[in-house]
Amino acid sequence: MKLELRNISCGYGKLTVLNGVSLTVDEGSVGLFGPNGAGKTTLIHAVLGMVPLQNGEIYFDGERIDTKKTHTIVRQGISVVPQERELFPAMTVLENLQVGAENIDRARAAMADTLELVYSYFPILKERQGQYAGTMSGGQQRMLAVGRALMAKPKLLILDEPSLGLQPSIVHELFDILNIMKKEISIFLTEQNLRESLRTVGKGYILENGHIVLEGDADGLANNPQVTRAYLGL
Ligand SMILES: Nc1ncnc2c1ncn2[C@@H]1O[C@H](COP(=O)(O)OP(=O)(O)O)[C@@H](O)[C@H]1O
Ligand SMILES: [Mg+2]
Repeated sequence: MKLELRNISCGYGKLTVLNGVSLTVDEGSVGLFGPNGAGKTTLIHAVLGMVPLQNGEIYFDGERIDTKKTHTIVRQGISVVPQERELFPAMTVLENLQVGAENIDRARAAMADTLELVYSYFPILKERQGQYAGTMSGGQQRMLAVGRALMAKPKLLILDEPSLGLQPSIVHELFDILNIMKKEISIFLTEQNLRESLRTVGKGYILENGHIVLEGDADGLANNPQVTRAYLGL
């Protein structure tokens, strides 16, 4: 698995949000960090073909995808846990998970096995499989959103600020699970919470005002004064 953004620029109408961004996600886990408004979500939307590029190219497993439609890109193996949870609150946990596999043939065929895998990561989802999604806690709903994305059997799981709005102990638990998950699947996540993320990612990029201002492995970032000052409050 390899996702490669080459010098991409994109935005909304005449507004350019990302300005010449290059990054590579290969096996393991990669982070994209930066403050609110930096362009993290825009970058994910560009990967999904939801924001057209003004310049540059995006490749997935060597194939150019920035000219493709979202459903084609998803079918090729990219699954996203959006920043805004998009669960169906009036459907059960199990139904929400089933929806995740619905539109992809190989995912539908493997549904029973993938469901067991998701339940092994998140036992609470098995316990609550008959419960309406909308009645679950924030943390459980985030876990369901991750589970639903996994049901599509992606090669690459993208998470847009998974820690957002969750209490610290739940964030810690979620990142523990991502640490196990990354042995089986490639992960690309955006975050403002570097303290938790740096336990999980192999390498990270710092995005500010639509530019990558720093990149490095997790140790390098954790020890970089620029990072500790701005993001770790040290
Ligand atoms: N649909 C949109 N239309 C116009 N501007 C947008 C839209 N979505 C985001 N933006 C702008 O793009 C910039 C980057 O936003 P975003 O990608 O959401 O950043 P982040 O995810 O890092 O917080 C912000 O200035 C934001 O106001
Ligand atoms: Mg965002």
